[in-house]
Parts: sequence; C-alpha cells; structure tokens
Amino acid sequence: MNDSAVNLRQASVDDLDAIMQLETATFPSDAWNRETMQRELRSRVNRYYVLERDDTPVAYGGIRVVACDADVQTIAVADGSRGQGLGRALMEHLMQAARDEGALQMFLEVRADNPNAIALYESLDFEQIDVRHGYYQPDGIDAIVMMKEPV
Ligand SMILES: CC(C)(COP(=O)(O)OP(=O)(O)OC[C@H]1O[C@@H](n2cnc3c(N)ncnc32)[C@H](O)[C@@H]1OP(=O)(O)O)[C@@H](O)C(=O)NCCC(=O)NCCS
Repeated sequence: MNDSAVNLRQASVDDLDAIMQLETATFPSDAWNRETMQRELRSRVNRYYVLERDDTPVAYGGIRVVACDADVQTIAVADGSRGQGLGRALMEHLMQAARDEGALQMFLEVRADNPNAIALYESLDFEQIDVRHGYYQPDGIDAIVMMKEPV
C-alpha cells in the first residue's frame, strides 16, 4: 500500500458509528452489536485502529493484549476497498502494536470458509494450531485458531 490519501490511526469511541457501519456490512450473519463494539473500543487492554481513505473509514481492526498474549479481535476492509493491500497493511500494524505492548505471541480465529483471510494470515506466517467445531453461530462454521510466535 502506497497511497497518500490513506491514513491509519488509533480508533476511539468517537469512531463507533463508522465502525458499526463497516461491521454490519461485512459480517451480515454474525456482526457484533453496538454495545459489544463500544465495550471493545473502551477496553483498556484493547487497541483499535481505523484506516481512512480521503477521510472516510474504509477498514478497522483491533487487538487485545494481556501479558505476553495478543489476540486479533477483528479486522475488516470495506467491500469496495479489498484486494488493494489495506488488509495486509492493517495486519502488519496490529502486529507491530502487539509487539509495542510487549506481546510475544499473537492468536486469531478465522472462519474455515474464509480462504482470503486465511491466505493473508498464512502469508504473515500464522500457523493453524486448533479447530473449534461449529464455533461461528448461527451458521455453525468451524473456527480455525492460528498463532504466530514470535509476533
Ligand atoms: C480478509 C481481508 C481483511 C483482507 O483484506 P484485503 O485488503 O482485501 O487484503 P489485501 O489486499 O491486503 O491482501 C492481503 C492478502 O490477503 C489474501 N487475499 C486477499 N484477497 C484475496 C482473494 N480475493 N483471493 C485470494 N487471496 C486473497 C492474499 O494472501 C493477499 O496477499 P497478496 O495480495 O500478496 O496475494 C478482507 O478481505 C476482509 O475484510 N474480508 C471480510 C472480513 C473478514 O473476513 N475479516 C477477517 C475475519 S478473521
């Protein structure tokens, strides 16, 4: 990604409306509700980031860091902005943020029916360590648990 109109910054609860718009458009069957997202943005162990293009949020993602473990809470790029390197840039930023917070390893869960995201994580050297059967409801889709160590 090399686009001067793109800006990546830390998110706050002021971004809740924009993030919820992206969240509900991206995850039609299992979007987090507004209260959950608000708690995510307010949590002191979380770091959320927004990626803006021409001052419009087009992607967001967040991590939770507790002791040496970082978890990717969520990451999404707006439909019309995918395939342009934004997801990779955001993931690399989340990994750097995790290291800055002292994390030694990073975990994430991804739907087994999401090959694009799995390809992104594998390209960043995340490895599959577990499967949670039927984890994503109401669809009953497995979660693939992935880890990168050191992050
Ligand atoms: C997964 C997601 C975040 C990737 O973001 P993106 O901006 O489209 O991805 P990028 O353009 O940075 O591509 C990064 C890598 O992802 C993979 N990828 C992305 N789109 C792909 C596609 N259509 N087909 C195959 N691989 C793809 C590739 O490995 C790609 O690397 P490459 O360009 O070197 O081949 C984005 O597709 C998205 O928001 N999807 C919906 C929400 C979601 O699935 N979130 C993850 C939940 S765990």
